[in-house]
Amino acid sequence: MIIKVAKNSGFCFGVERAVDGVIAWAKANKDRSVKVYGMLIHNSYVIERLKELNIKVIEDVNQIEKDDVVFIRSHGVSMDEFLEIEKRAARVYDFTCPYVKKIHEIVREASANGNDIVVVGDINHPEVKGIIGHVDKGRKCIVIDSIEKARDAIAQLGSKTIVVCQTTFDNAKWQQIKEYIENNTDYKVFDTICKATINRQQEAKILAQEVDIMLVIGDRKSSNTNKLYEAVKGIKPTYFIETLEDLKKIDFSRAKVIGITAGASTSQEQINEVIQMLEREFNEVDPSDFEKLL
Ligand code: F3S
Repeated sequence: MIIKVAKNSGFCFGVERAVDGVIAWAKANKDRSVKVYGMLIHNSYVIERLKELNIKVIEDVNQIEKDDVVFIRSHGVSMDEFLEIEKRAARVYDFTCPYVKKIHEIVREASANGNDIVVVGDINHPEVKGIIGHVDKGRKCIVIDSIEKARDAIAQLGSKTIVVCQTTFDNAKWQQIKEYIENNTDYKVFDTICKATINRQQEAKILAQEVDIMLVIGDRKSSNTNKLYEAVKGIKPTYFIETLEDLKKIDFSRAKVIGITAGASTSQEQINEVIQMLEREFNEVDPSDFEKLL
């Protein structure tokens, strides 16, 4: 049996930076109360490890006490939330992903200069809520996720409008919406989708063509892991692996080559555990058969 692991599997740059930053700080300052504002990462496995280090995840600024050290996760927060956190906490570490921060800057500057804003994304996603919260309150901001909604938004907005995209939005959908807006308006469009997400999906699709079975490792609550699963499931039999128990339910008898990919919120530790279990299960596997692909 050969196991092929996609190079872009597991933590993306922004998530790794935030998770490593919080953990390193908590380990070095065991006497301090460390809180993360919002779910640091959609991965219950990692959240459990944070709890072991006494790092608490909070969802409300009212949970901040004056001696707290508060970390802001990679999704970012609205301007009002940021100011409130700063006011209440003893110290704030902002781990908003630089790609998300760039979108904050774009919408802040454009709306301050009299532009309305279109955000292409999921209205319930924390990153999108954060972006909306950087738009000048005197301007309109509309969130859309389809061509129909783009049509409605165009009817409501003036010609001075700019468009940005949630970093982890579905790339194929973004391309369609972007094309529609460009063909029907003079809006300035900023392509803010994260290339790490696109690369991960493209690699997974290539890998799926070369294997018999695909395993997508991650948390079911993670939207990017779900999108990764959706991207490959039509190519080869694909299994969502949330825990090692999920592996036991798969019939590997006809699989000669197994492909592995993982969402941006899946730790390397989890990926290794899956590989080790496959090794144990199929002890005829020759370690030299392991390939690090792409
Ligand atoms: Fe940042 Fe892209 Fe990850 S925006 S948090 S590097 S998916």
